[in-house]
Amino acid sequence: MNIAVVGGGVRCRELIKIIKNHTFREISPQIIGVADINENAPGFILARENGLFVTRDYNDFFNRNDIDLIIELTGNMKIYNDILKKKERNVRAIASKTARLFWEISRISDKQKQTTERLQETKKLYKTAVNELIQEDVLVISSDYRVVDANDTLLKKLGLRRDEAIGHFCYEITHHKDRPCSGEDHPCPLFQTLSNKESFQTTHTHLDKNGNKIYYSISTYPIFDNDTVTGAIEISRDITKDINLQKAMMQQEKLASVGRLSAGVAHEINNPLTTILTTAMLIQEDLTPDDPIYQELNTVTDETLRCRKIVTSLLNFARQSNPTKKENSINAIVAETILLTQKQAAFKDLVIEAHYAEGIPPVNVDKGQIQQAFINLIINAIEAAEPGGKISLTTHFSPLNCMVEIMVTDNGKGMTEEIIDKIFDPFFTDKKSGTGLGLAITHGIIEQHGGAIDVKSTPHEGSTFIIRFPVTKGDTHAAEPPHSDHR
Ligand SMILES: Nc1ncnc2c1ncn2[C@@H]1O[C@H](COP(=O)(O)OP(=O)(O)OP(=O)(O)O)[C@@H](O)[C@H]1O
Ligand SMILES: [Mg+2]
Repeated sequence: MNIAVVGGGVRCRELIKIIKNHTFREISPQIIGVADINENAPGFILARENGLFVTRDYNDFFNRNDIDLIIELTGNMKIYNDILKKKERNVRAIASKTARLFWEISRISDKQKQTTERLQETKKLYKTAVNELIQEDVLVISSDYRVVDANDTLLKKLGLRRDEAIGHFCYEITHHKDRPCSGEDHPCPLFQTLSNKESFQTTHTHLDKNGNKIYYSISTYPIFDNDTVTGAIEISRDITKDINLQKAMMQQEKLASVGRLSAGVAHEINNPLTTILTTAMLIQEDLTPDDPIYQELNTVTDETLRCRKIVTSLLNFARQSNPTKKENSINAIVAETILLTQKQAAFKDLVIEAHYAEGIPPVNVDKGQIQQAFINLIINAIEAAEPGGKISLTTHFSPLNCMVEIMVTDNGKGMTEEIIDKIFDPFFTDKKSGTGLGLAITHGIIEQHGGAIDVKSTPHEGSTFIIRFPVTKGDTHAAEPPHSDHR
């Protein structure tokens, strides 16, 4: 569409610019000429600079036959009427006022364009923030539980592309379930936010591929459309490390207080216990074994001996603070410990198997203490196993993180989650004659050596206690392979 403009003012200049720079979808307008009596009018100058036809007399337009539209921009009705009279029938004309109307409309859409541009920028900012800056997992969910968006951190964890997540149910992609989360341990935060129109915070416990617990802190924030909640933003964070640290600190605190207490009390109790024991035995010397008092004194001595065992354990427990560390072969310590416990195992018709990893570098440990820790674990395993059962000790070295791992596995009675939560507590026992200090002591010893102890167990199937030690820096030369097998 060829356009001629009458009036070369500011508006004419803007019109030339817009038509030049804008991509039109349906028509392809172009200005082919500008008329103005003032040759210095801005539109006139721009037209000349752009090589367009310029004239001081708009009547020149009527001599041309390539014009489709004449736009009158002077605002002078006489000129417009003159144009209407002189133009060919197939040439259209627009008066200044009509042109202004479209002008205003175009300004409105310009503003809209700016708003759209700003919106695009905000979106870009949101994407950068959510995907690159926020390290938490972010999920935008609609009220029908379908994923609207997910950030890169979460998608990476789930191993999904964005298009594989969007449109699917949140519980499907995050929990591999066919219905929303529910129950006291696993409340659905989205459900709470949709019903209460408020943010909600909860913790979910999951298991990783090795069966270890992972704790997630999940928060949902409602998305409002007027007064209706149309969905929620869900932000979740792996708080496993924090929880484990907290648990370890609580355990340390418990152990420390029991240690302090026992150090003070154990000594005081030991002496009167010895007196009770010797007195009971002295009285027994004057009696015959079939005397009923002799029998009752047996109970006194048995129970006193039991108390002595507790006191000895308490003293061991209190003494754990000063390990004398030396370089030791972990395989050799395990082998010796098995020798020490083999009799008890055989007594219950149990086999102790050993699987030694080769090339484990020496570890800097107090041999006596570590042996004590292993003995506690093996004795527990013996006590948990049924006659004819099996106990195995396995050593492993991972050069990547320079850690030595020792696993004590039994196929005994196993433990429930509730029991596992308590086993490292001092005095927790389910045994008639147990002190409940074995694992507390073991835990303390391992911690003292900068290691960690972990447990996995299934009721009626068995338990595995895993101990990990760091290998001392610089000790990366391999130790000799094990010298014996205890199958
Ligand atoms: N291998 C295991 N299988 C099943 N339960 C176990 C095992 N090891 C420990 N437990 C549980 O943990 C509890 C605490 O163990 P811990 O060694 O601290 O004390 P104890 O064995 O009861 O007493 P003590 O060690 O003085 O004989 C046990 O009573 C038992 O319930
Ligand atoms: Mg024990």
